[in-house]
Amino acid sequence: MRIKYTISIVFFVALVIIEKENNIISRVSDKLTLKQTPQTPLQLSGFSHILLKHNGSSTSLSKMDPAFLQMKQRLENYSEHQEVMTRARKHILLLATTRTGSSFVGEFFNQQGENMFYLFEPLWHVEKMLTLETGGTNATAAAKAYRDVLKQLFLCDFSLLESFLDPLPVDHITTALFRRESSSSLCEESVCSPFIKGVFERYHCRTRRCGPLNLTMASESCLQKEHRAIKSVRVRQLETLRPLVEDPRLDVKFIQLVRDPRAVLASRMVAFAAKYKNWKQWAMGGDVPIDDEEVRKLKGNCDNIRMSAEIGLRQPLWLRRRYMLVRYEDIARFPMRKATEMYRFTGIPFTPQVKSWILKNTQASKETSGVYSTQKNSSQQVEKWRFSLPFKIAQVVQKVCGPTLKLFGYKFVSSEEMLTDKSVSLIEDKVFNFL
Ligand SMILES: *[C@@H]1O[C@H](CO)[C@@H](O)[C@H](O)[C@H]1NC(C)=O
Ligand SMILES: *[C@@H]1O[C@H](CO)[C@@H](O)[C@H](O)[C@H]1NC(C)=O
Ligand SMILES: *[C@@H]1O[C@H](CO)[C@@H](O)[C@H](O)[C@H]1NC(C)=O
Ligand SMILES: *[C@@H]1O[C@H](CO)[C@@H](O)[C@H](O)[C@H]1NC(C)=O
Ligand SMILES: *[C@@H]1O[C@H](CO)[C@@H](O)[C@H](O)[C@H]1NC(C)=O
Repeated sequence: MRIKYTISIVFFVALVIIEKENNIISRVSDKLTLKQTPQTPLQLSGFSHILLKHNGSSTSLSKMDPAFLQMKQRLENYSEHQEVMTRARKHILLLATTRTGSSFVGEFFNQQGENMFYLFEPLWHVEKMLTLETGGTNATAAAKAYRDVLKQLFLCDFSLLESFLDPLPVDHITTALFRRESSSSLCEESVCSPFIKGVFERYHCRTRRCGPLNLTMASESCLQKEHRAIKSVRVRQLETLRPLVEDPRLDVKFIQLVRDPRAVLASRMVAFAAKYKNWKQWAMGGDVPIDDEEVRKLKGNCDNIRMSAEIGLRQPLWLRRRYMLVRYEDIARFPMRKATEMYRFTGIPFTPQVKSWILKNTQASKETSGVYSTQKNSSQQVEKWRFSLPFKIAQVVQKVCGPTLKLFGYKFVSSEEMLTDKSVSLIEDKVFNFL
């Protein structure tokens, strides 16, 4: 009898304690949610349409919880301003610089399939047209032109780009669009006008015989596609593209592709050997000094890349959920994993076509090592530069591009031996995106 009594009391006390703890826990979690909501309204935006769709259940929930009501209002406000966010059409801009493997990475999107309209380096024409007699461009003027052309192209409007084509298209027909064949979208049946004998097209389609490019057809085809992607190595500052994000017709995602500047320089020294004759002689102990102009250019490039990345990684409001940084070295070593991550970031389906392209092009290849070749043994390629770049030149890059190397996690080398020691990786493991 007494035992029974004791058990009941213990049971009752236990119940009281559990109830109290529960209260404390729920009060603490209330505080936590209240504290977090002011800082994270945007991070919730992805769910806004889901919550709002369930109109009935969310209103009844909100009756019970004022914090929830507040959050819901916020989401409604946000989704009103950013109606576009819930739309499916994505506009991908792959931003890189030369010799960073951007043709290769661009293929990830070029191969996506029926739903993708992909353009390869359309800004080539803009840069060419704006190049001054001194060989450079007026950066301010160029940035504005790049931005405006990109915006129009994302809307499938080629008219501004046409004004930069040389020769000017007649009736929107051109034989001169740079690397047309690198955009499978521009060689599809629907964009392929009848072949005309005797008309020379430098950048002709390889998959089928087409006549000159009819940009009206290209635009019509573009409008039919769900997603649009453009690759460019010409944009200098990410910030100049802010108006694209602010255009309510677009849902832009930036992928910035970077690569070890030492590897980039090594690659340039092979591709443009004549330009770097002085560097090589100097590195071999000759007394021809390194051209100051070249060092300035190298520094300018490194600084631009770093500043764009710093803005992106800081995740200001306008770039939230819109910026991803990818290192070429990671793509080369883990192509499938990185491609999956990139597709997850864009919100576009990762199709079997992309997967099989990656499998085919990152494994045994018969080496078609043209200068712009995308087909190579990618994990081997990553380290190759260490054996072709003279240590003295690696030191120059480290001096000029130090903060850039640091930001992206590329290890400095302190000796010739370290440079060529394959057992030392120069790529630190680094996670850049917190998505
Ligand atoms: C959602 O709820 C609001 C007010 O509670 C109501 O005015 C509106 O008609 C509802 N919408 C739908 C789609 O049920
Ligand atoms: C929603 O927007 C309205 C008007 O723009 C504003 O008065 C209100 O405070 C906003 N609500 C929240 C929760 O941000
Ligand atoms: C560059 O272009 C901008 C606007 O297009 C112009 O205002 C500026 O004077 C130009 N700068 C130089 C150095 O030519
Ligand atoms: C280009 O394509 C458009 C749309 O299909 C067509 O109307 C036009 O006639 C074509 N131009 C030429 C010169 O074939
Ligand atoms: C690719 O390169 C890696 C690293 O050098 C090497 O281990 C691998 O055997 C190469 N694969 C092929 C198919 O050449």
